[in-house]
Amino acid sequence: MAERIAVVPGDGIGREVVPVGVDVLDAVGAFEFVECAAGDAVAASTGDPLPDETREAVLDADATLFGAAGETAADVVIPLRRALDSFVNVRPARASPGVDALQPDTDLVILRENTEGVYAGIESEIADGVATCTRVVTERASRRLAEFACDYVAERGEAAFTLAHKSNVMRVTDGLWLDAVEAVAADRGVDAEPELMDALAMNLAMSPESYDVVVAPNLAGDVLSDLAAGLVGGLGLLPSANIGSGGGLFEPVHGTAPDIAGQGVANPLATVLSAAMLLGFLGHEAAAADVRAAVEAVLADGPLTPDLGGDATTTAVGGAVLDRLA
Ligand code: NAI
Ligand code: MG
Repeated sequence: MAERIAVVPGDGIGREVVPVGVDVLDAVGAFEFVECAAGDAVAASTGDPLPDETREAVLDADATLFGAAGETAADVVIPLRRALDSFVNVRPARASPGVDALQPDTDLVILRENTEGVYAGIESEIADGVATCTRVVTERASRRLAEFACDYVAERGEAAFTLAHKSNVMRVTDGLWLDAVEAVAADRGVDAEPELMDALAMNLAMSPESYDVVVAPNLAGDVLSDLAAGLVGGLGLLPSANIGSGGGLFEPVHGTAPDIAGQGVANPLATVLSAAMLLGFLGHEAAAADVRAAVEAVLADGPLTPDLGGDATTTAVGGAVLDRLA
């Protein structure tokens, strides 16, 4: 039976780039696609940014390809990650030879905690003009991410990862985070190298080549991965994978890009690379490698969208990837 892929384009450029990702998946495999609505547009027409049919389709699917949701992103992406019990967001940032990157030697992966921290959604206005946010850190989630990180570095033939934290200030929460991750790493014979996240941000910008796998709390991982995107040529190139016990959801790191939405010039390669991660997750390693090679070839020879200095459309770049795969 064909594997089933839930396809959630969402809003804005999500609707322009996700069809390219679907075409690429269709070119290299035999999948059944189930298209579902989520985001601002469906919220405007039904009042619900994440319809039950969409949640169920994502849970029933073998994997999900997601675009981006607009202002309702937090009401769509976060509940979907929770529904899938997605405890890690894998965000590779690699500079391709064909791209004029700020830091051409960048080749790193951020493993972002995906369920808690300050993104747990526990905020309140406790008095007029005073708001608070509760940061949640659990030993369970920290250890689970650490186990994943140890497997991840082992698969890459390495024995260490950088561990982002700020335990000098957030002594209790990041103290627990640090202890829990370090304990798992020690058990597994992996070297967890703690680094204060502010210094890490500077070092990432100045010498990204000295980093390989970075394990980070939720907010820090979000911020550091956009920083990494800037080093390799922008958000148009960064894919991500949300992995959990309920399945995998694959999405470009970028949002709906309202400034360029509707113009047909969004870079589809972040989504195509997300599709490659989806293929790897489903065990189609050869197809995943073919897709990555096709993207590299297009980055080297063009055509490129305006964010990378070209003047090609989304469809032209998608067509070039498909040509390379043919
Ligand atoms: P954004 O990622 O949408 O855009 C940031 C900048 O990068 C813009 O200048 C945009 O044109 C450019 N950019 C992004 N993707 C691109 C691509 N594929 N090709 C070419 N240029 C690209 O972030 P922003 O502007 O902060 O957020 C816009 C909306 O997206 C907001 O409503 C936000 O809530 C939502 N969002 C949704 C996410 C999700 O669904 N996972 C993630 C991030 C933002
Ligand atoms: Mg982000």
